[in-house]
Amino acid sequence: MKDYSHYLDYLQDDLEESEQREPRTKARRSKPEVVEPTAQVETRKEGFNPSFSSSFHERDWILTYLSGFYEDQLITDVLRQVKGGKEANVYCCAAHPSTGMDLIAAKVYRPRMFRNLRNDVLYRQGRDILDDGGNRGRREFLAMKKKTGFGQNLRHTSWLMNEFQTMELLYAAGADLPKPVAHNDNAILMSYMGDERWPAPTLNSVRLDKEEAQPLFERLLHNVDLMLAAGRVHGDLSAHNILYWEGEVRIIDFPQAVDPLVNPNALDLLARDVERLCQYFARYNIVSAPAELTAEIWSRHIPT
Ligand SMILES: Nc1ncnc2c1ncn2[C@@H]1O[C@H](COP(=O)(O)OP(=O)(O)OP(=O)(O)O)[C@@H](O)[C@H]1O
Ligand SMILES: [Mg+2]
Repeated sequence: MKDYSHYLDYLQDDLEESEQREPRTKARRSKPEVVEPTAQVETRKEGFNPSFSSSFHERDWILTYLSGFYEDQLITDVLRQVKGGKEANVYCCAAHPSTGMDLIAAKVYRPRMFRNLRNDVLYRQGRDILDDGGNRGRREFLAMKKKTGFGQNLRHTSWLMNEFQTMELLYAAGADLPKPVAHNDNAILMSYMGDERWPAPTLNSVRLDKEEAQPLFERLLHNVDLMLAAGRVHGDLSAHNILYWEGEVRIIDFPQAVDPLVNPNALDLLARDVERLCQYFARYNIVSAPAELTAEIWSRHIPT
């Protein structure tokens, strides 16, 4: 597997310093938030020569975070960038035959985004602090509470692990989402929706046929129900986080998903998810009652 020792050393170093020192000094801030990977990259370049041409920095980034997947024989190439956002870049990769897939999507998190991620308290309440092995620990918890650099990096890993574990859980439960394939501490591989030229559009940007709107609405509500039964509320469900391809939908973007049994905001988040679905389908003259639907779904799965 890939060598993340430089990154781990940095985290360790940061923890040790933060344990000895109270508020972070200005000088300390100049230390890169994520360790510059160049030295490591050089050793990983062998063999992995992505055909996607990008800026020097993006190439470095791709080599750092995706070459491990190449070495593990999960991907053979990076073909194109699907989407570059402020939180993550998504790439379309050629899958290694061993995966049984043609294409694989790689979602590469941007480390810096975790400095001002979504309103994270709302989502994190009750959630375990997960390291990149999905484990939790008191030391990690304290570091995150103190908001040290180490803690911030852990929080980052925790979002990614929450996304990956949620995807595994929901995929196994039979929900409509990309199949999670693998992860490292900064990227997730999953089945790709679309083809090499055209990635699947998000639902908000397609015009559905009249006849397909009602069944898709029901299908998505069924997914909300199924996810709750499996112990998750998406928490940011909208037509922007649903991919549409050849009549099928896949729900994406799970880092903020919450466990309804431990997160006190879960019912409100569920209500918002359902409301947004109803609002979207209203344009196809589908009349629905989001509050009633939410109550119905909630009471079916969550004991009072
Ligand atoms: N499995 C996939 N197959 C094809 N395209 C994908 C896949 N996963 C994500 N994408 C594309 O990447 C975009 C961003 O993915 P995602 O929503 O998970 O990340 P994000 O960080 O929330 O980005 P944004 O802020 O744009 O929503 C999606 O809108 C979609 O266009
Ligand atoms: Mg999204």
